[in-house]
Amino acid sequence: MPPETSLDETPGHDPLAIFLEWQKAAAERGLPAPDAFALATSTPEGRPSVRIVLFKGVVNGALRLVTNYQSRKGEELAKNPFAALTFFWPALDRQVRMEGRVERASPQESDAYFAKRDRESQLGAWASAQSRPVASRAALDAELARVRQRFEGGPVPRPDHWGVLHLLPDRIELWLSGPHRLHDRFAYTRDGDAWRVERLAP
Ligand SMILES: Cc1cc2nc3c(=O)[nH]c(=O)nc-3n(C[C@H](O)[C@H](O)[C@H](O)COP(=O)(O)O)c2cc1C
Repeated sequence: MPPETSLDETPGHDPLAIFLEWQKAAAERGLPAPDAFALATSTPEGRPSVRIVLFKGVVNGALRLVTNYQSRKGEELAKNPFAALTFFWPALDRQVRMEGRVERASPQESDAYFAKRDRESQLGAWASAQSRPVASRAALDAELARVRQRFEGGPVPRPDHWGVLHLLPDRIELWLSGPHRLHDRFAYTRDGDAWRVERLAP
């Protein structure tokens, strides 16, 4: 039997709530890129890839991010919907890791998010076939000019290939730096509506 972890020792019962507090603290302290995290996906054969994306809030227990569904990450997730992510705020000496299933948000949610973006970003979503080879910077700029002309004088609709993703974590680790590399690590595993927690050796 593994040793039982006293909840009193942990930063709290709800790891998503604690994550949100830490993320807010990083933003309020003006730390660089407080909402950037590394997102790892993998092919069905288990070959991983990782990149930085931006955190766009939590909805119904899921982390939100936005991307091109036809990008490399989008295609990997379509075949293998499991992902892992890591936030690190060096000035807070804290790390948060999560793992879980990723799903596309509803078209309505993606539309609402897209509508709030500035027009140049909306045009960019049309102009960039993210992760595909592009001949030159000039070719990318020419594509942007083409879509600018196409939508001139009217709203820019959301392209089908662009939208919100939800990562629903079933495992969250809260990591706090400790003295002499004896860090505190709390691994929370989803257990129905609650979370089970274990302290891990650093
Ligand atoms: C600070 C930072 C924030 C980024 N935010 C996003 C993002 O929110 N969504 C996104 O698709 N790409 C974002 N990118 C670009 C990705 O890192 C990556 O280049 C892109 O998504 C293509 O990745 P892929 O080919 O693995 O799909 C960001 C990059 C940086 C450095």
